[in-house]
Amino acid sequence: MAKLEIITLPDPLLRTHSSAIEQVDDELRKLIDDMLETMYDAPGIGLAAVQVAVPKRLLVVDVAGAEDEPAPIAMINPEIIKLGDEMRVYEEGCLSLPDVLVDVERPKTVSVRYVDREGKQQQVEADGLLATAIQHEMDHLDGKLIIDFLSRLKRDMVVRRFKKQARGL
Ligand code: NI
Repeated sequence: MAKLEIITLPDPLLRTHSSAIEQVDDELRKLIDDMLETMYDAPGIGLAAVQVAVPKRLLVVDVAGAEDEPAPIAMINPEIIKLGDEMRVYEEGCLSLPDVLVDVERPKTVSVRYVDREGKQQQVEADGLLATAIQHEMDHLDGKLIIDFLSRLKRDMVVRRFKKQARGL
C-alpha cells in the first residue's frame, strides 16, 4: 500500500464532476487500499477518489471509533436511493480544506446503492455519522464542498485564504 497526496483548495480538480467507473479490477482495488491508508493516516473518516487527484466515482469511509475494530467501506459508483425526512446538523471538516469546520445540515438517514470492491451490487441504510460521511463524500464526486453550505461572503473569505496560502503569502 502507498500513501497518496491529498489535494486541497484551490485545486480546480475539487470542483470537477467525477466519472463513473466501468471496471472493478486489481488496479482499482489497489487505489481503494491506498485511499484507506491515506485516510487513516490523515486521519479522517472519509475520502473521495478526486481528493487524491483521481476524478472517478469512488469513496471510502470508516466511522468506527478509536476503540473499535476498523470498519472500512469502499463505494464504487454510489447512488442515493432515498433520503430520510429528518435532518441533522453536524460540524464537518474535510481533508481538502484543512482547519475549516462548517455546520452542515443533511438528512439523518440515507439509503445508498453502490458496487463493492468485488464488483457486487450492495445497498446500505445509513444513519447518523455514517449517513453524514457518505453524503459528504458523495458531494465530492459532484464537485461540491462543505464551504458551499456557507453564505457567499464566508465562502469567499475561505477561498481567498486558501488562494493566499497556495501563493505562499
Ligand atoms: Ni471532504
